[in-house]
Amino acid sequence: MTDPKLTYDNSGIDPLMNHSTNPSMTDILNESSRRQFLKGSLAAAMATMFGGALTGCQSDEPAVKDAASLIKAETKPTLLQFKAIASNRLDTITVPAGYSARAFLPMGTPLLGSLPAYRDGGQNTGADMEQQVGAHHDGMHYFPIDGRTGGSNSAEGLLVFNHEYIDPELMHANGPTAAPRPADQVRKEVAAHGVTVAHIKKDDKGQFQLVQNSPLNRRITGATPMEMSGPARGHSKLITAYSKDGTRTRGTLNNCGNGYTPWGTYLTAEENWAGYFMNADATQPREHKRYGVGTKAGRYAWETADNAADQYRRFDATSYGSDGSKDYRNEPNTFGWIVEIDPYNPDSTPQKRTALGRFGHECIAFAPVVEGQPVVVYSGDDATFEYIYKFVSRQPYYKATAGGHLLNDGTLYVAKFNADGSGSWLPLDVKDAAFMAKAQTAGVTFADQGDLLINTRLAADIAGATKMDRPEWVTTHPQTGEVYFTLTNNTARTAAQVDAANPRANNATGHIIRWREQGTAQSLSFNWDIFLLAGDVGTQTPGTNLTLTADNHLASPDGLMFDKNGLLWIQTDMSGTQQASGPYGNNQMLVADPVTRTMKRFLVGPVDCEITGISFTPDMKTMFINVQHPGDRSTVTKLTSNWPANDAVSRPRSATVIITRDDGGVIGI
Ligand code: FEO
Ligand code: CA
Ligand code: CA
Repeated sequence: MTDPKLTYDNSGIDPLMNHSTNPSMTDILNESSRRQFLKGSLAAAMATMFGGALTGCQSDEPAVKDAASLIKAETKPTLLQFKAIASNRLDTITVPAGYSARAFLPMGTPLLGSLPAYRDGGQNTGADMEQQVGAHHDGMHYFPIDGRTGGSNSAEGLLVFNHEYIDPELMHANGPTAAPRPADQVRKEVAAHGVTVAHIKKDDKGQFQLVQNSPLNRRITGATPMEMSGPARGHSKLITAYSKDGTRTRGTLNNCGNGYTPWGTYLTAEENWAGYFMNADATQPREHKRYGVGTKAGRYAWETADNAADQYRRFDATSYGSDGSKDYRNEPNTFGWIVEIDPYNPDSTPQKRTALGRFGHECIAFAPVVEGQPVVVYSGDDATFEYIYKFVSRQPYYKATAGGHLLNDGTLYVAKFNADGSGSWLPLDVKDAAFMAKAQTAGVTFADQGDLLINTRLAADIAGATKMDRPEWVTTHPQTGEVYFTLTNNTARTAAQVDAANPRANNATGHIIRWREQGTAQSLSFNWDIFLLAGDVGTQTPGTNLTLTADNHLASPDGLMFDKNGLLWIQTDMSGTQQASGPYGNNQMLVADPVTRTMKRFLVGPVDCEITGISFTPDMKTMFINVQHPGDRSTVTKLTSNWPANDAVSRPRSATVIITRDDGGVIGI
């Protein structure tokens, strides 16, 4: 029998909302007469804010300065030559004329050990899934096989990608069994989460294939042992029955977007992890409550596994008095982090980098690194009215010695967007007197920096950060370092809560904000503007020449990445009625030239999917994207999609898609 509570649609539900009382921009505006101009035309205001400072005024800058690029700066390509495709509701991948797309490494692809074959109809076991590609592909990065030695092999590499969550309805033969959950169903669901490292290589026909039995193939799951690193390592709030010294945990969950480091490692972001846990205590600690840990059952009720295994019981964070063997009160505190994975070393232990803060991490991106200067990374918290963060390392970057230690020590900041187009980074640091004074005023104490980081959201509330319309992916321009951020939507924002950086009430379609740091990337001041207001045909971004047409209308932007040519790839994650019956067709990918603000639809996905994850080979001739949860409104008896099999029978499966140009050329130009 199917328990409907176990069917969870991550894309359509926003379980977390910031209810803190720090002022919205409107409050600030109302207090400040010198910002009267904003009460006039938004277009005029934005034009003033931009001040011509951002990419749009740099059209004489070469598209590529990267010496490692195969595309020479002196032969600056003409961008976006393809013909935009129309939106559609087909159960297939649509790409422009002259391009081809094929599905690759779908959920269940045999990867390790005995290479258990995928069996349609939810027939594989938990043990099978531990040796197969996981579910719900999301963030992704291609690492050249020779990347560690500075190489840029575009024919052989490691494709690393996240598995954000699962669709229990399609994962088991007859859907999920209600609690108490059969242990093997739970084993399979835990194994379907995490990350896949796939060694891939072009065959004689030039097509990428999986290298079966490669020792580099790896599955990291919701059960893989991991180290806690950085200021919270060993903290009393991380101690569990599994890790008596608070230095270790098991698994990574709800891995949404990703990042990658300049030293060749993968970063995976733990997003809506809170729902996997429960805590039935009458009073929850702030490090559970502020993150939305439930009081009854976890999302998939893993804590009820009928073998009572410690591995699954840990999802119950309720206090059990003196029974130390059941003490997993702190287990949720070991989630909500950015996790660093070395894809080239299959024996390496993933590291949870606590200095980068604990929240609903969507994605993470580095500012272009500069020898001898700190590294700077950006990450957003994807929940309604949550914040945008930046981390600046204490130690400078030197290519010869760079490594994960740079992410263990530094300062975490949260963004405040001022109405006049300026912005500032507010430190979240127990050593910062101004911050601690605000904490004292708020009646909040932090025992140490580890305590603050475990309660990052609370610290950001206290600092007075700007509440955003659900920060999703972030990307930095490869030459200018300008930062672009998708704000996917926020229908909870009222007219009274509108501010300059989140300018629409009931923002159902989302927008993209961007900024440039004043000076170096570690600057505490920046200038920002709105790059794009998403919406239906006719939607205009104030102060710009960009009015959306049938070639580029979109809603709920989510995935975002600059390529080497400075093209901005934008992926959508519409859900609910917007996905099912809105004017935009299926979820899709568009590409924009920020210099000219030209934007074209490049890809439309199959029915009921999300388009997410993006990476290229170094030669820019192969693009990888992910199709997540095709047919996510299916039941076991009524499938809304059969992608990628398209045989009218098979259950739909998440998969990577490989896109190439038929003439073998560079993608997007
Ligand atoms: Fe997992 Fe915020 O998308
Ligand atoms: Ca996302
Ligand atoms: Ca999303």
